[in-house]
Amino acid sequence: MESVKRLKITTLADNLTFHGSLLGQWGLSFLLEITAADNRKHIVIFDTGAVKDALLFNIDQLKVNLSNLEAIVLSHGHRDHTATTVELVRRSRRRVQVIAHPHAFKRRFVITRDGKKRFSQVPKGEREKDIEQAGARLVLTKEPFQILLGATTTGEIPRLTRFEKIPGKRFIVVGRESQPDSILDDQALIINVRGQGAWVVTGCAHSGITNTLRKAESIAQSLSVHAVVGGFHLASEREDRIKHTVDALRSYKPKLISPCHCTGFRATRMIWEAFEREFVLNFSGRTIVSGERTRPNTL
Ligand SMILES: [Fe+2]
Ligand SMILES: [Fe+2]
Repeated sequence: MESVKRLKITTLADNLTFHGSLLGQWGLSFLLEITAADNRKHIVIFDTGAVKDALLFNIDQLKVNLSNLEAIVLSHGHRDHTATTVELVRRSRRRVQVIAHPHAFKRRFVITRDGKKRFSQVPKGEREKDIEQAGARLVLTKEPFQILLGATTTGEIPRLTRFEKIPGKRFIVVGRESQPDSILDDQALIINVRGQGAWVVTGCAHSGITNTLRKAESIAQSLSVHAVVGGFHLASEREDRIKHTVDALRSYKPKLISPCHCTGFRATRMIWEAFEREFVLNFSGRTIVSGERTRPNTL
């Protein structure tokens, strides 16, 4: 896999914030500023949050200029990751590529404990046609998709581990039928930073963070996983299940680990205990730059 020179990740939306003038929300969005091997700068957004006004507020507060935005990767089709795609496409003066899995825009719902249907798909006004009408090129693919040399999506992630299961009664409507939803659309982004290795950016990691890293390894081939940043979806998991994940993460020996969003407090604490030196607390307004130490790493 080719490499890039530099990566800067800014968290535009996360459940938490410790930044004096930004908002938190149950949702996720990262700004990725990538300097390619040829020194060109690329701007990519990974996920577009749940609360449009809160995300745009943070973008404005941080004075993020999106006129050169060239790609938006949607990690999966849940509403907390997909609520602001159209407006971000509009803010670019380029033809933005929006990359997602073919299942990302399907209708889907969860049966709650009290037997009710709760819909969780991409919100109205943010679907395929809306994105195309805003001027984007929509790329729906299960396969890894190269955004630029050194940065690619994982595409669909095989479910190989035994302990990473999708809990709850989730359904997706494919054609006219609802079928159990294993969130096949879940994908991550891999950026190979020169001299470091693979940075893996996740949305919710519904496939399991270990499965995600395995897929990343298979794509990045001989590269080691340098950093893992994003949601690990462990908020509702029990301690023994989280321990399995932490043990699996240890085997990758990441140099930086920054769980957020749906990781949950308990899992975040356990990951922090296992990786005290590598851990970086994440929140709206956090910036992480390849080759620089993130300080303070906790608060
Ligand atoms: Fe999700
Ligand atoms: Fe999520």
